Amino acid sequence: MSVDTTGQSRRGFLQGAAGLAAVPLLVADSRKAAGASRAATTLTERRRLGRLRVSGIGLGTQTMPGNLYGPVSSRKDMVALVRTAVDQGVTFFDTAEAYGPFEGERILGDGLRGVRDDVVIATKFGFEIDPVTGRRGEGLNSRPAHVRRAVDGMLKRLRTDRIDLLYQHRVDPAVPIEDVADLMKELIRAGKVLHWGLSEPGPQTVRRAHAVQPLAAIQNEYSMAYREPERQILPLCRELGIGFVCWAPLAYGFTTGTINPYTRFAEGDFRASVPRHAQENMAANMPLVQLILDWSVRKGVTPAQLSLAWLRTRQPWVVPIPTSTRLSHLLENLGAEEVTFGREELKELTAALDAITIQGARLPPPVLAATGVEAPPRRA
Ligand SMILES: NC(=O)c1ccc[n+]([C@@H]2O[C@H](COP(=O)([O-])OP(=O)(O)OC[C@H]3O[C@@H](n4cnc5c(N)ncnc54)[C@H](OP(=O)(O)O)[C@@H]3O)[C@@H](O)[C@H]2O)c1
Repeated sequence: MSVDTTGQSRRGFLQGAAGLAAVPLLVADSRKAAGASRAATTLTERRRLGRLRVSGIGLGTQTMPGNLYGPVSSRKDMVALVRTAVDQGVTFFDTAEAYGPFEGERILGDGLRGVRDDVVIATKFGFEIDPVTGRRGEGLNSRPAHVRRAVDGMLKRLRTDRIDLLYQHRVDPAVPIEDVADLMKELIRAGKVLHWGLSEPGPQTVRRAHAVQPLAAIQNEYSMAYREPERQILPLCRELGIGFVCWAPLAYGFTTGTINPYTRFAEGDFRASVPRHAQENMAANMPLVQLILDWSVRKGVTPAQLSLAWLRTRQPWVVPIPTSTRLSHLLENLGAEEVTFGREELKELTAALDAITIQGARLPPPVLAATGVEAPPRRA
């Protein structure tokens, strides 16, 4: 892309007075325009993921253990943040045994004490993680004996007797999906799991899995900066009646306007390893941020609210699960529920997004290689 949607050339955008140096100011302007009322939203809308009913915005917990996007204020704050989300009407919480490992589930279990029956808990299995010690081994493991043990550990950490939505985190190229689906059937019969889903699967694997035990949701990356699911997976979800959960709905913070080519990620911050965040790629992708900032001011909302609200217009069964480790961000993000678009407005915004090509891969090569994988056939 050489021309951004405001009509400036990319070079002009980067060099001009309204370029990068102005971004923080514009973010501040759009936040001010959003006013206080949207920050106080209590979620009321509910959405369906298969037969599951969840709040229209969920809460991710991946960064709460403090070892992925840099340290967090404190564990106590993370537990309190989960409880505040409940108080604000969030009923959909996303975690995984791999977050920490284990600590994301423990934080959620602590935060949901006493309100467990009012919420939907989603977690994920599938990596080679020792079910007792949490030591992370190499690669994936969806072998049924391993998953059975993993689920028992999850129930303890989450302080619950059932998992509302259990995902396979990544398709295991060594385990037929029918074996995994049969195991889910067994766990559902036992009452330990209520619904299941897949994360970043190949499309044929979705069909095969769904034929054995119906899926409630697919969880894939989807945001204004990454729209690949629109090609194959979203149409497939519509055809099969499966819900769709968007991970990284804020593109790791990029669509909030708070990271840019001059951002220096903290030591160990996963985001530094994402090719899309290489300085030249972030610079090339700034027209997207500019578009979001312009529309935020026009709508009187914040960039994060605009990003989440647009995702929510894509389908009534699409649910974003932004992570936030800051109370102010959590409250701001929930304000997206109140943001509405007129038909023409939405057409105009989506057309402007269509005209932007994002540069740089969404994940580091070895992590990317584990997405879109088709499971092997079951042996006769
Ligand atoms: N299935 C999978 O393979 C997979 C992969 C990745 C993630 N996930 C799930 O999806 C969830 C969300 O994904 P994600 O955390 O990678 O990406 P994300 O939600 O797109 O972005 C999170 C980042 O945005 C920042 N942020 C949040 N709200 C903000 C606001 N209003 N203004 C400015 N910055 C804001 C957060 O910072 P603060 O903490 O400072 O608010 C954090 O750095 C995860 O927690 C996890 O549950 C699943």
